[in-house]
Amino acid sequence: MKNSLFIKAALSQETERPPVWMMRQAGRFMPEYWEIKNKYSFLEMCKTPEIAADVTMLPVDLLGIDAAILFSDILVTGEAMGGKLSFEQGVGPKFANPVQNIKDIEALEVDVLDRLQYVADAIKVIQGRLSKLGDQQIPLIGFAGAPFTVMSYLVEGGSSKDFKKTKLFMFNQPEAAHKLLEKIADVTVDYLNMQIAAGVNAVQIFDSWALSLSWDDYKEFSHRYIQNIISRLNRTVPVISFCKGSSVFAPLMAEAKPDVVSVDWNADLKNIKSALPQGIAVQGNLDPFVLYADKAVIKDRILRIIERMRGEKGFIFNLGHGIMPDIPFDNVKYAIEVIKSV
Ligand code: CP3
Repeated sequence: MKNSLFIKAALSQETERPPVWMMRQAGRFMPEYWEIKNKYSFLEMCKTPEIAADVTMLPVDLLGIDAAILFSDILVTGEAMGGKLSFEQGVGPKFANPVQNIKDIEALEVDVLDRLQYVADAIKVIQGRLSKLGDQQIPLIGFAGAPFTVMSYLVEGGSSKDFKKTKLFMFNQPEAAHKLLEKIADVTVDYLNMQIAAGVNAVQIFDSWALSLSWDDYKEFSHRYIQNIISRLNRTVPVISFCKGSSVFAPLMAEAKPDVVSVDWNADLKNIKSALPQGIAVQGNLDPFVLYADKAVIKDRILRIIERMRGEKGFIFNLGHGIMPDIPFDNVKYAIEVIKSV
């Protein structure tokens, strides 16, 4: 993988153009995704290695991106620990047995790698497919949810707009919250090291909802655990730290020593990069809503970021967050072409 643009950029080495991939690049905006989704439930897709591989390969084959990301979900760790997880159309993720007190936390298990074996199996199938592409060298990104974000789903029992239950749990039962975060962190370390052993070429930690936290609470309930996880990873592959809120928290994220900080669209990417220690790359940071716009606007906003980052080592083009399900496929394809043509 030494010649992969993505790996080079992740390691802050020079590349002839910025590599590109997009969060949620395998999903509902693709008609080909629906052909598979109409036959299986989302969890069946995640848990059947051949199907997970088929979906992982869709953006490689149809969009020409520079890195593939494992088809799975951040909530599979919560499920393996004992959460009763389901994904219903139009409802989103649900845990039927939300965590409410210390007893619920004590009941969660941490020695759960055997329940996640299907992910290691999927990684092996995907690597078999990617190796058939020859010298293209498309790396595979593995991932996990960060403890705070996974905790929010376990406590809320699903998605939330304001994280009220999660925050009240943290504020009023801090010891229980820390116990839960510690358990999730332990599972996450085992899980990411399992993915690395199975053959992923990079890993990304998703802290999608850390944006809801104050600086102090981010430090205490999120950063601490990400730092702990990264320090326990088998660092044979680059580690990317994503947080929606990185425009604010990037200096703390860098303290955890990832190889790459993935940045939301609020901040100027070059300013963030300049403020980070040497050797930490950045990934980002197009506003995903731009992909709904006219092609001239898409091109203009992409070129602005690329111009701003020209000459910088350690830049991976991505969105500031995932692709929305109703973004036109054609616009995503066009965006990738523009980025690859610079
Ligand atoms: O990026 C990729 O293409 C790889 C696969 C991937 C999925 N989820 C597939 C998925 C990844 C990396 C994730 C991570 C994930 N899951 C995050 C972190 C990234 C982010 O977007 O912030 C979060 C917060 C989740 C939790 C989750 N899973 C949500 C909020 C949803 C969508 C709810 C909805 O209906 O809008 C899911 C379901 C999910 N995960 C889908 C996909 C393709 C849609 C499932 C379907 O087809 O119904």
